[in-house]
Amino acid sequence: MNFKAFLTEETKEGFISNVKERSLEDLPDGDVLIKVAFSSLNYKDALSASGNKGVSRNYPHSPGIDAAGVVEESNTNDFLKGDEVIVTGYDLGMNTSGGFSEYIRVPKEWIIKKPDNLSLEEAMAYGTAGLTAGLCVRKILLSGIKPEDGEVFVTGATGGVGIIAVMLLAKLEFNVVAITGKDDQTDLLLSLGAKEIINRSELEGEMKSPLTKPRWAGGVDAVGSNILSNLITATHQRAAIACCGMVGGVNLNTSIFPFILRGLSLLGVDSAETLIDVKKEIWNNFASDWKLEKINDQIKDVRLEELSSEIEKILKGEQVGRVRLKN
Ligand SMILES: NC(=O)c1ccc[n+]([C@@H]2O[C@H](COP(=O)([O-])OP(=O)(O)OC[C@H]3O[C@@H](n4cnc5c(N)ncnc54)[C@H](OP(=O)(O)O)[C@@H]3O)[C@@H](O)[C@H]2O)c1
Repeated sequence: MNFKAFLTEETKEGFISNVKERSLEDLPDGDVLIKVAFSSLNYKDALSASGNKGVSRNYPHSPGIDAAGVVEESNTNDFLKGDEVIVTGYDLGMNTSGGFSEYIRVPKEWIIKKPDNLSLEEAMAYGTAGLTAGLCVRKILLSGIKPEDGEVFVTGATGGVGIIAVMLLAKLEFNVVAITGKDDQTDLLLSLGAKEIINRSELEGEMKSPLTKPRWAGGVDAVGSNILSNLITATHQRAAIACCGMVGGVNLNTSIFPFILRGLSLLGVDSAETLIDVKKEIWNNFASDWKLEKINDQIKDVRLEELSSEIEKILKGEQVGRVRLKN
C-alpha cells in the first residue's frame, strides 16, 4: 500500500523536504502499524528536517516526534485494530520514520491508549510540547512548590512548551510571569493566565552576580543560556526550576551558590525517554484535572504540504502557540 509522507532528503544543495509517496515496506519493523490522524510540529522536528545529525543521522527521513491515530495492524494483544493511540518520543521522528506521514510503525512499548475524555485531535494540540510542559510542572509540584510560595516564570512563553506551561500553571493557580521576546503577544499571554509579562531582553545579558534579590519560587525554562543563568540567581529558598529547552543556546553559566545557599533544585526534563507510565500519567491529567479549556484556541492546523513554511518559522523563533498536522 502507498501513502503520503513529508520526506527530508540529503542532496548536494542541502537538506530538502517534500511530500512524497511511500510504501509500507519503507517503514521500519515494529509491532503496531498506526494510521496517523494528527501529528504536531515541535522544535526537534525542525532540527530533524534541517539535517541536524544530533537528531536524525540517516536520510531520507520523515520527521515527526509525535502522532495520534488508529491502529491498523498489530502483532500484540496489547493493541487491537481500531484502538485510538498516542505515540510520543523515544525514537519516533528521530531515526524512526515519524509522524509527518499517513502511517507509522512502532514498538508496542512506545504506545499509549488514548484516554477517554481526550480526542486524538486534542492530544496533538498538546503534543510533545504539552507533554513536556506537563512533565516540567509535575517535577515542580513533586518538589513541593505551591502557589502560595510565590511567582513562577515561564520562558519562551509564546512557544509550544511555553504557552502550555503558562496555561497549566495558571490553571493550577500559580502566579505566572511570562518571559517573552514578543511584545505584541502580551494580551494573548495575559488572556491565558499570565499575571505579568517580562521582555526577555531584560535577561539576555551575561550573569553579573551569582545571587541576586530573590523573586522566583520556581519556573519552566525552554530557552537555556543567559536567560536561565540570570533566573537561577534570583530564586527563593527551596525553589524548583524545570529546564527542558535550548532555543537561546546550550551553555549555562552558573555557580554553586543558589544550590548550597538557597537549596535550589534544577530539574531536567527529557520527554522522549520519560518512562511510559509517567507519560500515561500526564496524558490522563490532560484528560481530567489538567484539561486546558483554551488549548484549541492556540492551534494552527496544517496539511503535510504546508509543513515546510511552519518549520522555517519555528527555526526563527517566530511561532506563536502550536502547529498541528491534520492528515
Ligand atoms: N526536553 C524535552 O523533552 C523537550 C521537549 C520539547 C521541546 N524541547 C525544547 O524546548 C524548546 C522549546 O520548544 P518549543 O517546541 O516550545 O519551540 P518553539 O515553539 O519554537 O518555542 C520556543 C520559544 O522560545 C522563544 N525564543 C525563540 N528564540 C529565542 C532566543 N534566541 N532566546 C530566547 N528565547 C527564544 C520564543 O518565544 P518568545 O518569543 O515568547 O520568547 C519561541 O516561541 C526547544 O529547545 C526544544 O528543543 C525539549
